[in-house]
Amino acid sequence: MWNADVPDYPAGHDPSYQAIPFFIALHEGRSYGLFFNNTWRSWFDMGKTVPRRYSFGASGGELDYYVFTGGAERSPARVLQDYTALTGRGALPPLWALGYHQSRWSYMSQEQVLDVAQEFRKRRIPADALYLDIDHMDGFRVFTWNAGTFPDPKKMLDQLHGQGFRAVTIVDPGIKRDEGFPIYRSGRAGGHYVRKADGAELHEKVWPGVCAFPDFTSPGARAWFGSLYQAPLELGVDGFWNDMNEPGVFPPDGFSQPEIGLGPQRTFPLDARHAGDGRPGTHEEYHNVYGMQMARASFEGLRSLRPEKRPMVLTRAGFAGVQRYAAVWTGDNSPTWSHLALTIPMLTNLSVSGVPFVGADVGGFMGSPSAELHTRWLQAAALTPYFRTHSNDVSAPREPWAFGPAYEAINRDTIALRYQLLPYLYTLFEASERTGLPPMRPLWFDYPGDTRASLIDDQYLVGGDLLVAPVVHEGRTSREVVFPKGSAWIDWSTGIRHEGGTSAMVAAPLARLPLFVRAGASLPMVAAPVQHSGEMKDQPLTLLVAAGGTGSSRVFQDAGDGYAYREGKARTITATQDGHSLRLDIPPRRGYQRLGAIEFIGLAAAPAAVRIGGRTVHDARFDPATRRLRIVLADENLKEVVLVP
Ligand code: GLC
Repeated sequence: MWNADVPDYPAGHDPSYQAIPFFIALHEGRSYGLFFNNTWRSWFDMGKTVPRRYSFGASGGELDYYVFTGGAERSPARVLQDYTALTGRGALPPLWALGYHQSRWSYMSQEQVLDVAQEFRKRRIPADALYLDIDHMDGFRVFTWNAGTFPDPKKMLDQLHGQGFRAVTIVDPGIKRDEGFPIYRSGRAGGHYVRKADGAELHEKVWPGVCAFPDFTSPGARAWFGSLYQAPLELGVDGFWNDMNEPGVFPPDGFSQPEIGLGPQRTFPLDARHAGDGRPGTHEEYHNVYGMQMARASFEGLRSLRPEKRPMVLTRAGFAGVQRYAAVWTGDNSPTWSHLALTIPMLTNLSVSGVPFVGADVGGFMGSPSAELHTRWLQAAALTPYFRTHSNDVSAPREPWAFGPAYEAINRDTIALRYQLLPYLYTLFEASERTGLPPMRPLWFDYPGDTRASLIDDQYLVGGDLLVAPVVHEGRTSREVVFPKGSAWIDWSTGIRHEGGTSAMVAAPLARLPLFVRAGASLPMVAAPVQHSGEMKDQPLTLLVAAGGTGSSRVFQDAGDGYAYREGKARTITATQDGHSLRLDIPPRRGYQRLGAIEFIGLAAAPAAVRIGGRTVHDARFDPATRRLRIVLADENLKEVVLVP
């Protein structure tokens, strides 16, 4: 456990960008959890040295650990609820942060950014945010703009907002040591920088050249750094991306010897000094929390500068508890099929480590994916919590249209699927803030007793009600899907029902993401195509009801940003299937999206009649190809829907 900048990491590479010294054990369906509350360089030996025995330790600090017994249930869910009660839960993101985000290193000018935005709208491909990587700055100085290429950022941001886009800028920890740079001087005057063992300001090379680094373990430095967000907020920047905060630094002589590369050793000297929030110590002690404390400085700065909005912070490095401050992405992955496959275990493992808002760079950061790989990757990522395409400075363009019209059409549908299910994802995030249960889950998390499903790492669950089985191998047009025991699953595309505890080969032509809905579930969707999340509020909701099972589902609605929901300015619709009917509890609308339709999926045949509140409905449409029955609602005045067989 040692946060490391590890570009192009091979599968199984250790250590990685984040250190979360927590695990969940699972044995014969029963779980417990263990959290090692130690920020030093720590290690876990899981039966490697001595089979049937594990051990853990650290290079310093105390042997302070928590065991979560999992309560009477001994379930993974209960373990994670208890672990996140201790380390914190992910705050509900603004709705736009759950949309599709497009990035690259870098969109080089104001015109290029606006062109990309316009292209999305012209081609009717939904998107919510564009990213400005390091080249938007003046010589990579944080919180500055390149006056030549971004002469009028305010105008650019206004134009983006006018088209329903948000903008996210990168903010690295390294501050260029430059006497002419006011931010550098202000940090030095405040005594906010990390110092070497001899007391001198620590200098290391990163993008801008020689830099000083805020000591994010000091409350004063955090407050100072947080206050720097005022300038970009005033211009209209919406979200922020903290990178290189393992911290990762470059070799002193640049990259003349590429084999030295980056990695765990490329960081501050271990004896550098940190304030340690009142408990001063060395870099060796505080290295692993540096990135999380940077994200905290960003989050808390944004909270106090703009209290009416939810902060959107993305971070590369983190520690146990990072979920309180930021979304996390999995760093510099590669455009290979094995890296695509790796995203599922990486993201589900982060999720069950308490971090709900996670994603991987779509397409693989370190180069150019083939059209097929990119198309499959976009599908695999479409229902992951954080959905961003990003690539390095030498890779080919990767906007959804970059691979030609046939792929563009598929990519449009893939992103549209994300938007269709945005109300469901949002509902899951609201629940996650209260319970600590992550939106994205490995199968064993919900089905710990199913030994076969427990071993699956090329499928994932979204909440309890969606099972996603992406194609992660080249050239495949079908794949095997394992259906967890205890639930039945309805194929999203065909309406065919699969019993739990079985597996099946399902068709997966390039245009199809194999997706299944738990029988008994009711999911909120926006049925009409939207171009960005801001358009959702004008579109009625459709409730997708997977027939042939029982269960109770929630639909959470609020303003999509701000904190009024914590004062009750929200509504929660509940939908319950008991095997005979669908019962609905729909509180007054208060301006939220109207429930406009109910769509049953998984019916073997059209029902003889549909009754709402005892009255027969006449305009219910059954589509035998997808086995969906669509009922358009005149109003929200209903409590019960009965399908008469
Ligand atoms: C790092 C980040 C990557 C970013 C690049 C330039 O490699 O991981 O996402 O594009 O730096 O800022």
